[in-house]
Amino acid sequence: MTTYKHPHGHVFYRKMSHARPKIDYGEGIYLFDEDGQRYMDGSGGPLVVNVGHGRSEIVTAMAEQAQKAAYVHAIMFTNQATEQLSDELAELVPINNARFFYLSSGSEVVEGAIKLARQIQQARGENGRSTIISRYQSYHGMSLGALSVSGRPGLRAPYLGMLHDMPHIAPPYPYRDPVSGEEAADRLEAAILAAGVENTAAFLAEPISGASLGAAAPPDDYWPAIRTICDKYGVLLIADEVLVGMGRTGKWWGIDHWQVQPDILVTSKGLAGGYFPLGFVAARHDDVELIRQKLGDWNHGGTFSHHAVGCAAALATLHIMQKERLVENSASLGPKLGQMLHEALGSHPHVGDIRGRGLFWGLELVEDRTSKRPFPASRHLAWAVWQRAFDNGLIIYESQGCADGQNGDLLMLGPPLIVTEAQLAEMVAILTAAVHAELGHGG
Ligand SMILES: Cc1ncc(COP(=O)(O)O)c(C=O)c1O
Repeated sequence: MTTYKHPHGHVFYRKMSHARPKIDYGEGIYLFDEDGQRYMDGSGGPLVVNVGHGRSEIVTAMAEQAQKAAYVHAIMFTNQATEQLSDELAELVPINNARFFYLSSGSEVVEGAIKLARQIQQARGENGRSTIISRYQSYHGMSLGALSVSGRPGLRAPYLGMLHDMPHIAPPYPYRDPVSGEEAADRLEAAILAAGVENTAAFLAEPISGASLGAAAPPDDYWPAIRTICDKYGVLLIADEVLVGMGRTGKWWGIDHWQVQPDILVTSKGLAGGYFPLGFVAARHDDVELIRQKLGDWNHGGTFSHHAVGCAAALATLHIMQKERLVENSASLGPKLGQMLHEALGSHPHVGDIRGRGLFWGLELVEDRTSKRPFPASRHLAWAVWQRAFDNGLIIYESQGCADGQNGDLLMLGPPLIVTEAQLAEMVAILTAAVHAELGHGG
């Protein structure tokens, strides 16, 4: 296999010491490297490739838009793709009469959302409100603002002196912290009172935890209680749907599982299926209108905002999802994937929890099932299982730190939503073999 490893070549990557094959092309749920080795994309990269690889409809839509006008500056022009995408998305997001602002990544839309929350509060005359409360064991991006609200100590550590000091509360985590949703939500009320109501602009969280807690969903009374607390104190509710949005969990949006309306919703990853780096910040019309009336403009932007080719890619992605009923596929295959995982690994002594919704499932590995003691982080267990699966042609997603910020290993599956039941079975078989190879059969 041809592999590329730092310091080979003139590129450098985040993970510097592992080798990476060179990809030639992708098709459906598969990727092929230049030696012809096939990989099943069991996680769509980091939960991005929702409609599969090699979709010519999207490529054509992008090419046509690029031929007509590849770039127009959003300060000066609008374009049909951006307008139409927004009209169609307005029918799908759980915000009445929503307005959309497009940026180029998850980190950017999170930055955008917290700045928009600040400006909405200013437009309301609440000038003191600039604190954003978020949660531990959460990930909202790598830029300094997004990292300030993220709750991942390992990622924050080198940059602590550069981050904003924002309060974090414990997330709902039924496996390790089996409190009711209301009790978990009370932590928000306590944090608002501690920070000062007059200082608190917004609460930001993922409706279902993504990379950091591997598909941990809150108890059913959590999100309604959070909405009530936000309303009580005039705090805006921001749903980070960067990972769990766009049908991933069997509904268009993670928050749809609880029919709660956020004030601001952001998404990215699956929005344009990986064909273009795109995300949006969605907000209520009356809040956007208030900014216009009171402040004149939203003091934010970006050279590549509202990108015409990106919006054309997202529109084509959206149409594929609707035509092929991919949200429904995610909803109906989700329980089957869960059952396969339970049958294959549910009684393994080092699999502590198996959880998920739609086509997003996480396995939490533990050293001891009774005490739920995690393996020490120094073992890099999730990465080791990831490597074994990868060597056998399956791409999964992994993370470390779920248990306490440092320790705790998660393996995640989140395949393209076009996946079939037979393909899921093959993925589970390779994943199971990887777990057995690393941790034994546990018999
Ligand atoms: C919930 C969530 N928010 C924000 C981000 C940041 O997105 P990006 O990597 O595109 O900047 C991620 C990325 O994994 C994410 O999962």
